[in-house]
Amino acid sequence: MKKLIRYLAPLTIVLIAAIFIYNIVTNGYIQHPGKTSYQKECAQCHGDKGEGIKSLIPPLIDADFAIQNIDSIPCWIKNGLNHPITVNGKLYDQPMYPISIDEIQTANIINYISREFLKNKTEVNSAWVKEKWNNCP
Ligand code: HEC
Repeated sequence: MKKLIRYLAPLTIVLIAAIFIYNIVTNGYIQHPGKTSYQKECAQCHGDKGEGIKSLIPPLIDADFAIQNIDSIPCWIKNGLNHPITVNGKLYDQPMYPISIDEIQTANIINYISREFLKNKTEVNSAWVKEKWNNCP
């Protein structure tokens, strides 16, 4: 048994390393955990690259409104957002409906959009999301 473990352990490490490298080669980078959730819950409106849709859906790319109000994003996801807003100088006034996802997915999505689109170093966790949810307006 001990012998088996002695041989299997290095093999497992090599296997994990191979999967790791395979991922980097095929995806270009290790996929962010928020990416799949973003694509499922947000991308149909805000776009794969956060570009938004014309004058209907605001962009997330370098969105000044999101950068300035990052603390409010959990409540927008939970309760929706429905009043005129100005994003990067353009006015938007279509409703964003509430999205039912848990605090872990919400934190992952916020971290993903912060890094990919808002070019912001913010890293949040599920406890932060819950605290914001408890204080939604
Ligand atoms: C059904 C389409 C739709 C979906 C799905 C959607 N949004 Fe929105 N989102 C909107 C619209 C429309 C607005 C503008 C709301 C307003 O004017 O009150 C908005 C506004 C925003 C804003 C603030 C404006 C900006 O561009 O900075 C953020 C941030 C945001 N959404 C993030 C998200 C995230 C994260 C998700 C996924 C969890 C998501 N949205 C899913 C339509 C959508």
